[in-house]
Amino acid sequence: MLRTKCAGLLRGLRQGAALSSTPAEQAKLSQAAQAAAAVSQGLHTEAASHEGSQQSGRAAWSWQKKAAVGLGVAAVGGVGLALMEEEAEMGLHPPEYPWPHTGLFSAYDHASIRRGHQVYSQVCAACHSVSQLHYRNLVGVAYTEDEVKDMAAEIEVEDGPNDEGEMYERAGKLSDPLPRPYANEEAARYANGGAYPPDLSLITKARHDGQNYVFSLLLGYHEPPAGVNVREGLHYNPYFPGGAIAMPKMLADEGTEYDDGTIATESQQAKDVTTFLAWAAEPEHDERKLMGAKWIFILSVVLLTAGYYKRWKWAPLKSRKVIVDAIN
Ligand code: HEC
Repeated sequence: MLRTKCAGLLRGLRQGAALSSTPAEQAKLSQAAQAAAAVSQGLHTEAASHEGSQQSGRAAWSWQKKAAVGLGVAAVGGVGLALMEEEAEMGLHPPEYPWPHTGLFSAYDHASIRRGHQVYSQVCAACHSVSQLHYRNLVGVAYTEDEVKDMAAEIEVEDGPNDEGEMYERAGKLSDPLPRPYANEEAARYANGGAYPPDLSLITKARHDGQNYVFSLLLGYHEPPAGVNVREGLHYNPYFPGGAIAMPKMLADEGTEYDDGTIATESQQAKDVTTFLAWAAEPEHDERKLMGAKWIFILSVVLLTAGYYKRWKWAPLKSRKVIVDAIN
C-alpha cells in the first residue's frame, strides 16, 4: 500500500517537473522528485521489512539465509576437500567384496587357499616372506601330508651343527618354515630400490580392511591420471597410501599355474592369494566359528533347561495359598 502511494507521488512530481514552465520551477520540482525518490527508496526498504509478516520474514532472513547457504557450501566443499586429501594420504578406500568366508557360519574356501598358496609361491615369494607359516600348517588345510612333504623336500635347509660341529644342508621337512626370499631387511631393501616388501603372514590384519585392501591393491594398478607425476621406480596405485607404490604390478593373466585346472585370470589369482593370506593371518577362523556355533547351541539348551527347571521347582511354592488362621 505504502509503495503504491509513493509511486503515485513520484509520478506526480516528475510530471510536474516536465510540465512546469520556468527553469527555476523545473529545477525545484526535479529536486523534490529526486528527494522523493530517495525517501521512497528508503520507504520501500522499510516497507519491505515491515509490511506484512511474511514479506518482512523473507527480507530480514535473506542475508542470513544466504550466509547459511554460503556456509553450507563452504562446509560441503571443505569436507569434500578433506576427503580428497585423506584419500590422497590414506589411499582410496577399497570397495566391500563378498568373500565367501565372511558369513556368520561360513568357512574358508579351502580350494582357494590351495590355489592362493600356488600364487604366493610362484609370484609373491620372490620378494615377500610369510614367516609365521611352516609347511606343517598347510597339511589338512590346503594339501595332504604327502603333498606337503614332497613340497618341503624340494628346498634345502641349513641345519646343524653335526657331530663334527659343522653346519650342513638337508632337504626340508614339515617342521621347517616356508623359505624367505632375503636373508635380512637390508638385502630386501637393496633388491627393491630401498622399499621393504613386508612380511605377508599378518598383512590382512595389519592393514585397515585388510582383505579388500590387498585384493584392490593387487588389481589397482593404472596409468597415473593427467597431472600426477609418479617418481621413477614407483608405480601409480590409488589404493596405496600416497598413491605411488614400489611394488610393480605383479599379477597378469596366466601368471600362475594352478594344479586344479582353474583358469588363472588376474582377478582369480588376486582373490585366491588374498584368501590364502587371510587364512595365514587367521588360521583359527574356521575352528573359531565352529566352536562359536557349538557353544551358542549348547548354552541355549542349558539356558532353556535351567529356565524350565526353575519354574518346575518353584511352581509348588509360588502357587500355594497361605492361610493365616488366627485364633482370637
Ligand atoms: C618384485 C618384488 C615383489 C613381488 C614379486 C611382490 N611384491 Fe608386494 N611389495 C613389494 C615391495 C617392494 C613392497 C613395498 C612397497 C612400498 O613400500 O612402496 C610391497 C608391498 C606389498 C604389500 C603391502 C602394501 C602396504 O600396504 O604396505 C602387499 C599387501 C603386497 N606387497 C602383496 C603382494 C602380493 C600378494 C604379491 C604376489 C601376488 C606380491 N606382493 C609380490 C615387492 C614385491
